[in-house]
Amino acid sequence: APVVAIVVAAGSGSRLGGEHPKALREVAGVPLVARSVHQLAAGGVGVCIVVVAAGTEDAFEAALGDAPVPCAIVAGGAERQHSVANGLALLDLHGGLAGAEVVLVHDAARAFVPPDVVVRVIAAVRAGADAVVPALPVADTIREVTDDGPSALVDRSSLRAVQTPQGFARAVLLDAHEALEESGTLVTDDAAAAEYLGHEVTLVAGAREAFKVTDPFDLVIAEALVARGQL
Ligand code: CTP
Ligand code: MG
Repeated sequence: APVVAIVVAAGSGSRLGGEHPKALREVAGVPLVARSVHQLAAGGVGVCIVVVAAGTEDAFEAALGDAPVPCAIVAGGAERQHSVANGLALLDLHGGLAGAEVVLVHDAARAFVPPDVVVRVIAAVRAGADAVVPALPVADTIREVTDDGPSALVDRSSLRAVQTPQGFARAVLLDAHEALEESGTLVTDDAAAAEYLGHEVTLVAGAREAFKVTDPFDLVIAEALVARGQL
């Protein structure tokens, strides 16, 4: 059975600005969502479920016209978690995907994720991990702040910044999202969803290139690196 990736692309990109959805913004003429699907496919993903803002389906269909793997497009929700849940609902419905045992969830905005990160995530799930996240050490010194009290230095050696794609045994991801919906709990990523049901989260090495395009600065960096052949 193919590895399925749910590519969440339903955000508006408020920090980036502009009138188009962030995932449709182009770097060197290629939309971020198309770049994400291309990188996932190069890492072993066989099918993508691309979750987009309602009303933008046609634009995403056009952006994914040359995708190297089959892509289904489905409407997302108000929060990222709802968008993932909508993607999962399609996974459940779609007969051809019924056999998928490894499911990844990827931010369309992490459009330059190297294929070897995708390979590591899939391999760890296949090796028996319930939930897998690529992560990197934190480069900055970090201070914790409160509203009134003094700030405090945090030991960054024990901290990791989490990226996507995150990988899951199919049942783990489905059960986790169902449990969150029943209890009305919101989490910020899918590893936290799995953790909510008590599953252990396994870390694999992430990559600088898997950075999330978040604001205009990131888009400038991406253009420059692509122009230099470094992305
Ligand atoms: N996302 C989604 N559905 C939402 C919110 C976010 O599918 N309701 C997706 C985004 O499209 C993005 C990924 O989740 O690929 C990570 O979110 P983020 O980088 O925060 O993107 P946006 O929410 O679009 O940006 P912003 O927070 O600046 O508005
Ligand atoms: Mg957001």
